[in-house]
Amino acid sequence: MTVTTEKKPAAARTATPLAYLVGFGNHFATEALPGALPQGQNSPQKCAYGLYAEQISGTAFTAPRAANRRTWFYRIRPGAMHQPFKRIDSGLLTNDFSQPATPNQLRWDPFPIPAKPTDFVEGLVTMCGNGAPDAGSGCAIHMYAANRPMTDRFFMDSDGELLVVPQQGRLRVATEMGVLEAEPHEIVAIPRGVRFRVELPDGVARGYVCENFGAPFRLPDLGVIGSNGLANPRDFLTPVAAYEDREGRFELVNKFLGNLWAAEIDHSPLDVVAWHGNFVPYKYDLRLFNTIGSISYDHPDPSIFLVLQSVSDTPGVDNIDFVIFPPRILAMEHTFRPPWFHRNIAAEFMGLIHGAYDAKAEGFLPGGASLHNTMSGHGPDAETFEKASNADLSKADYIRDTMAFMFETRLAFRPTKYALEASHLQAKYYECWQGLKKHFDPSKP
Ligand SMILES: [Fe+2]
Repeated sequence: MTVTTEKKPAAARTATPLAYLVGFGNHFATEALPGALPQGQNSPQKCAYGLYAEQISGTAFTAPRAANRRTWFYRIRPGAMHQPFKRIDSGLLTNDFSQPATPNQLRWDPFPIPAKPTDFVEGLVTMCGNGAPDAGSGCAIHMYAANRPMTDRFFMDSDGELLVVPQQGRLRVATEMGVLEAEPHEIVAIPRGVRFRVELPDGVARGYVCENFGAPFRLPDLGVIGSNGLANPRDFLTPVAAYEDREGRFELVNKFLGNLWAAEIDHSPLDVVAWHGNFVPYKYDLRLFNTIGSISYDHPDPSIFLVLQSVSDTPGVDNIDFVIFPPRILAMEHTFRPPWFHRNIAAEFMGLIHGAYDAKAEGFLPGGASLHNTMSGHGPDAETFEKASNADLSKADYIRDTMAFMFETRLAFRPTKYALEASHLQAKYYECWQGLKKHFDPSKP
């Protein structure tokens, strides 16, 4: 079954609505020309239309069926056809996390939009990370700001899956599997190694990227929540097959073990006419998240807001949790309703897509970011604490105008040199807690 974006009121609108396949983790089959997909087998002696068959594996061949991800392409030319890769300048994109890290709370003003022409790949800047691509765990957190579309340049990330969180401006992502378009409030996942280019329908775009070195993102188990809720599988959209038959002088950029490499290629690598499989890009509209919380007192741990997880080798301890803080209604009685003060073994990188975050009255802005590392104390600022401690709890709080998110990891984050020296790093973030008053009085229980 396919849907078009026109039928989904919350999703992006385009002049020509894009068609999508529906569901998370499905084994899809799609063809841009009738009969391009072979029937009953994967690798016939000769493919229809003179196409080449090629498999891309995102997990080990022998991974358990539930975790196994691969896709078969039927394409104009095999993926091997390009000139040798040569190292190019990686700019501020890095997987070198060897520098000394700080335990301090960090917060950044909105990520600056570049003045000179910059495409999506050039606009990627690494903020922090942990683990390594060749360790198969950890991630890198990047921000991007771009103002130039990629037309004759293509990108592939051999190091990790990319979870892209647009904050400003739409992205039109043309991939080997087809084209998808996302606006702020939507997210896009591009599997490791899949080739793509990014166009900018609004001219300028900014956002966040989690580069996942570990197991591909999946939907979490729901436990006692039951069979529905949180991010529902049918709201994940994967593009239908669409191919480019373009010849010319193009560049294929490959991120491999932390460095960028580039190869000349005389055709568009987005030349897949048909494909089938479950190793696919997808998008999801965060506004469709079914937010669950307390209807009595206190509130659950933020794991209740989990959208996607990258599991680790340790059950229950994820490599990465992608968590959102969406619009919601807080009606708990005799309860401090905003997020509480806490220190976590997990490391928390937060971003704000829209509006204001309910634990911070000011200073945390759309396009900005914060990092609260392993065991770093944080929580509501002084103003939010006073307001929430004296709020009228007979009425519900309707938190409408917000969309914050968190990349939460089991390993501590190591900020990059760029992130620690950036002019938009807030030098006095710690002061937001210094105004918290001493209320303690042993004579007043
Ligand atoms: Fe936190």
